[in-house]
Amino acid sequence: MNIIERINTRRSTRSFKDQEVDSNTIHELITLGTKAATGSYGQPWGFVVITDKGEIKSLSDEIKKYLVENIADYPYFKQYENWLKDENFSVFYGAPCVIVIYGDTSSHWCTYDCSLAAGNIMLSAKEFGLGTCWIGFAECICSTPEFKSKHNVPDSYKLVSTMIAGYPDEKQKNQKPPRRKPALIFYEK
Ligand SMILES: Cc1cc2nc3c(=O)[nH]c(=O)nc-3n(C[C@H](O)[C@H](O)[C@H](O)COP(=O)(O)O)c2cc1C
Repeated sequence: MNIIERINTRRSTRSFKDQEVDSNTIHELITLGTKAATGSYGQPWGFVVITDKGEIKSLSDEIKKYLVENIADYPYFKQYENWLKDENFSVFYGAPCVIVIYGDTSSHWCTYDCSLAAGNIMLSAKEFGLGTCWIGFAECICSTPEFKSKHNVPDSYKLVSTMIAGYPDEKQKNQKPPRRKPALIFYEK
């Protein structure tokens, strides 16, 4: 599949087979992430990988509890409140792997650089038969000093992206994602 097909067919994956992703594959994915452009060649990133099922489940539970209790602070999640209250809902959708990307704030460009790395990972995942989804719900906990300290992330690193990866199950159809046309584009001669 060439890059244009890949961009045109990438979809967020929210339903996974009960199948682990081996550490070499995760490492390759992250390495592809690190091929992204970076401001001043700073490469200002750090990656935390969580594959323990129990930890993924308790992290999801912690995120849901926190967001439900503090939903007033997260107006953009209000529309998902019922999902978050559902004990069967996992913010990680049963994925076997969570990749958290942190940016080293000593680089002014770290947010952009880490987002580009996340984009590389999302686009290259399919080459390994994997699906991914950026999980913004996870920001509230993965950015805390407690979480960072547990995973040896220095204080000076900020959370940029939490992403899930795993083998998509058959439930999700991979249609071409519809998109609005760009609202405004200026062509200057
Ligand atoms: C910054 C960001 C945060 C997101 N957070 C979530 C999330 O918490 N849960 C989720 O299911 N999808 C999340 N998504 C995925 C979007 O819902 C998805 O990309 C969008 O609906 C377009 O669908 P597509 O990725 O299949 O093209 C997030 C995507 C981005 C870029």
